[in-house]
Amino acid sequence: MDKKYYITTPIYYPSGSLHIGHCYCTVAADSIARYKRLRGYDVKFLTGTDEHGQKIEEKAKAAGVTPIEYVDNIVTGIKQLWKDLKITNDDFIRTTEERHEKIVQKIFTKLYEQGDIYKGEYEGKYCTPCESFWTETQLVDGKCPDCGREVKLVKEESYFFKLSKYQDRLLKYIEEHPDFIQPESRKNEMINNFIKPGLEDLCVSRTSFSWGIPVTFDPKHVIYVWLDALTNYITALGYLSDNDEEFKKYWPADLHLVGKEIVRFHTIIWPIMLMALDLPIPKQVFGHGWLVIGNGQKIGKSFGNYVPPQEYIEKYSLDAVRYYLLREVPFGSDGNFTEESLVNRTNSDLANDLGNLLSRTVAMIEKYFDGVVPEASQDDEFAKSLKETINNSIADIENYMDKLEIGKSLESVWNIISRANKYIDETMPWALAKDESKKQELATVMYNLAETLRIVSVLLRPYLAETPSKIWEQLGITDNTDWEDAKTFGLLKVGTKVKKGENLFPRIEVKPKEEVKDLPKKEEAPKSNDYITIDDFEKVKLKVAKVLEAEKVEGSDKLLKLKVSLGNEERQIVAGIQKYYEPSELIGKKLVIVANLKPIKLKGIESCGMVIAAGDGDIVKVLFVDDLVKEGEDVH
Ligand code: MSP
Repeated sequence: MDKKYYITTPIYYPSGSLHIGHCYCTVAADSIARYKRLRGYDVKFLTGTDEHGQKIEEKAKAAGVTPIEYVDNIVTGIKQLWKDLKITNDDFIRTTEERHEKIVQKIFTKLYEQGDIYKGEYEGKYCTPCESFWTETQLVDGKCPDCGREVKLVKEESYFFKLSKYQDRLLKYIEEHPDFIQPESRKNEMINNFIKPGLEDLCVSRTSFSWGIPVTFDPKHVIYVWLDALTNYITALGYLSDNDEEFKKYWPADLHLVGKEIVRFHTIIWPIMLMALDLPIPKQVFGHGWLVIGNGQKIGKSFGNYVPPQEYIEKYSLDAVRYYLLREVPFGSDGNFTEESLVNRTNSDLANDLGNLLSRTVAMIEKYFDGVVPEASQDDEFAKSLKETINNSIADIENYMDKLEIGKSLESVWNIISRANKYIDETMPWALAKDESKKQELATVMYNLAETLRIVSVLLRPYLAETPSKIWEQLGITDNTDWEDAKTFGLLKVGTKVKKGENLFPRIEVKPKEEVKDLPKKEEAPKSNDYITIDDFEKVKLKVAKVLEAEKVEGSDKLLKLKVSLGNEERQIVAGIQKYYEPSELIGKKLVIVANLKPIKLKGIESCGMVIAAGDGDIVKVLFVDDLVKEGEDVH
């Protein structure tokens, strides 16, 4: 096969468990990979984890474990998450693997030997969470322009990479390859905000921490994490290794799918590295938007608004989550994530439009034709219009997928579904069934509906992981499910036996949302003096947490906002202890929290847990834990 397609996601920082925002990118990449496979491409789909750097080193230290112990644990969770989302990646690269580290060292040495990397002294600002260097003028109010957090002054001996030398070549490349940076707005941002003002040489090594890949010829330096990370796209293919078959076959990448804030690393540092290595540049870097919540805040690990994505899958089903991520937000823009909109999407598009179409069709074939797909005869105007919609929509879907307009391509699938539902209303099979002379017309309607559903099931294959085969089961089909098979109406065999199954997407009943204004009212104590059992007690998960940050909640004289570490996880907790503690008194202390209390909002701030304290009135004391006990330990 000569058509190849190499697609990558960013490699994720295993600094904490991933959230639904990370799933957004991976599910999108998965739908593109599935689509390309269906279109006959030999696809290589890569994802992985970016495991070095100062941030991870600090996290591991706070958790009292070694960096590798820290990341091993989180990476296991990330791999499980991709399994749960049925992601079809062909490889998973970890930057701590030997196949990666060795080659990064070779590349660094090569660039040094050819004069593109040189030694100097770095003095400037560094944002540890973003692992980014910033100049004074790039800062916004003295803070990181990407995440708004504090930056640190870094002054150390460093190696530098000569970005400036390649500036003109890069600009020319971008201008001559209009598809390289997409969407268009990101390209303009890169050119006008970063390249045209002038590229400064990039600091590419650090000496003030050690969790990274050492520079072979100067091992007190570790290689800057972005230089290390970007290289994953070629180390995973075996570049400079004994087996570089895949590199020869798949490089250059067809698509690096990345979030908008890391487009600049992929369209400035990365192409310049490749130019310096004399390698071809990827065909496209596409910068998608963010899933945001409420007031436009990016969903993030450190903002305390984290809900494990598996919870959504358990509650609403895998394909409901996948569908929502792919359909709700125009790819490229930011989009608001709410559970409410997830429920609405599932109910309207999946339960009503698709689920009902299947259950009605199968039920009618069972009722009117003993469950056997009958033969169609002459098309009337409604059937013609249905077929026309199918043909046009397939062309639209392909067109949109080629432009990575995933949401729009799904909209086109739904045009077919809506048209089929309308076809039922127009032809009124229940009325035809009452008139024996209309039997042939009824048969035509049934065939056309079942055949439309077969086509829809094929068209859903890039996006939904479980639904297509559930539809096949109910339609009783095992073949004609390849992409090209969607383009011929009439492949469904007459005589196929349909079988009613479970609802594809049962309607989700929406409970009214509870608004919590301030501290929750205490529940009344049980009236009786009955004992509880040990099982009752064990329902409450008490854990040791270490306070990392504490601050007063604006507009409240009761609440403190805490960021605590549970070892492998960070949480935000809002506690009503402002009257009793100065925030600074709490930082570094270990205390006990109820870890499985349902998150609530206090003064609009999410609280994921409760601090245990004793006392009343003027004297309230938090229950501190001896420092010897590790955070994350159970209290029993
Ligand atoms: N490790 C770097 C990438 C190195 S690639 C050579 C990194 N990791 S990350 O874990 O912080 O982010 C990975 C990706 O997740 C980024 O593309 C980022 O945009 C994406 N997202 C993180 N939060 C997101 C949302 N709330 N919404 C959408 N995407 C989000 O950056």
